[in-house]
Amino acid sequence: MSFDLLAPHYRWMEAILAGDKIQRCRVHFLDSVSNCRRALLVGEGNGRFLGECLKKMPHAQFTVVDASEKMLEQARRRCGGDSRINYVRAQLPGAHLPKNFDLIVTNCFLDCFDERQLPTVVNELADCATDSAIWLVTDFCVPKTGWAKWRAKMVLAAAYSFFQVATGIPARRICAPDPFLVQNGFRFIDRIEADAGLIYSSIWKRSAS
Ligand SMILES: C[S@@+](CC[C@H](N)C(=O)[O-])C[C@H]1O[C@@H](n2cnc3c(N)ncnc32)[C@H](O)[C@@H]1O
Repeated sequence: MSFDLLAPHYRWMEAILAGDKIQRCRVHFLDSVSNCRRALLVGEGNGRFLGECLKKMPHAQFTVVDASEKMLEQARRRCGGDSRINYVRAQLPGAHLPKNFDLIVTNCFLDCFDERQLPTVVNELADCATDSAIWLVTDFCVPKTGWAKWRAKMVLAAAYSFFQVATGIPARRICAPDPFLVQNGFRFIDRIEADAGLIYSSIWKRSAS
């Protein structure tokens, strides 16, 4: 699995295929996490979200994890060598990441995993989170009914066919992470949707109770 080939093209492909819809979802809950101090951005890709975080979270440290060196290069180019950023090249599951993050962010990352790997990856990231951490998820989903359901199915079938060939990701279809977040003590707080329900962003919070 590697996004190296796609890395230089990722930005313009997103612009053509989705305009600004995904980015608006990525940053939607940023004001709600501006007090976080230790953020883990996993599968961050080309650093577009990281760039916004640097502006909105001036006191936070960022650990930016990605399996693709070329994606990390793009992120470094976009965000520079800010001393608050620690770039880590690592592949999940089995990445042995640092711990005690009060913010976990997975933007269009959990959709790379199949039903077998997804719970392992969510468990691994939850192990890196504090007892009161926030988790932001932006990803794709299939609406429950109507034309939007069939449209989403077609769009995602085409997208997965492309990404399997271009990157070799294990996933064949979208798999919601929600039950695995709940199993790890995260409580659903809020969610927004875009593009007729195809894209969403959700915010989760862990609490002792
Ligand atoms: C679909 S891209 C999403 C990039 C960006 N976060 C976004 O919102 O567009 C998935 C990213 O996750 C990384 N990735 C995919 N599978 C991974 C894995 N098993 N471990 C670490 N990074 C992975 C890829 O290199 C890529 O940068």
